[in-house]
Amino acid sequence: MPFISFEGIDGSGKSSLLENFKIHLKGLGLPVETTKEPGGTQLGKDLRNILLRTNGEAPCPRAELLIYEADRAQHVEVIIKPLLQKGFWILSDRYADSSLAFQGAGRKLDKEKVVWLNSFATSGLVPDLTVLLDCTVEVAETRRASREDDRMESEKLEFHQMVRDEYLTLAKHEPKRFLVLDAMKTPKQLFEELLQEVKNRKIL
Ligand code: TYD
Repeated sequence: MPFISFEGIDGSGKSSLLENFKIHLKGLGLPVETTKEPGGTQLGKDLRNILLRTNGEAPCPRAELLIYEADRAQHVEVIIKPLLQKGFWILSDRYADSSLAFQGAGRKLDKEKVVWLNSFATSGLVPDLTVLLDCTVEVAETRRASREDDRMESEKLEFHQMVRDEYLTLAKHEPKRFLVLDAMKTPKQLFEELLQEVKNRKIL
């Protein structure tokens, strides 16, 4: 069954698109589950708290990467693989590309090592489609203004810029897997573009 990940900088609106798409698939009578990283499992919820809290000791970049990867390994093992085997569509709010963008580019960790760790954590499970919601860091920041920033969101504009650039580079290198959508479009337009593209790519 199809496995689709949704990616983007914080405030890009990926979660709303994912939700709208889920409602549509459910309306078609298809078995679909939504999930997320970090925090898609019970263990992951504890790891998410460690990763995103603004109090307490902050993990150093290497520890941060390893915690995201631990969350991912558990997520793949306990949630994603079993559900795919049962015939569910999986829509995941973030997956392995987040580590390449945030820890690889944002934290400047060796990208080859991140690629290796991603492959280890996922045991090679790659999404059929990765939807990248792209917008400028300024727009994303404005959209986040109404809620309190977590530890990652509190990073400087330059950090988020590096994350955005890396996402666009990843998408350029893997055009077959990535679908880049302009997050400035309305939720309805975004949903329609996604639906059309999923049909064009014969996923639906
Ligand atoms: P997210 O759940 O999208 O944030 P929110 O619920 O506030 O919309 O993502 C949590 C944060 O974790 C986000 O800043 C991106 C970051 N992140 C990484 O840095 N590396 C990763 O591998 C993942 C999965 C997320």
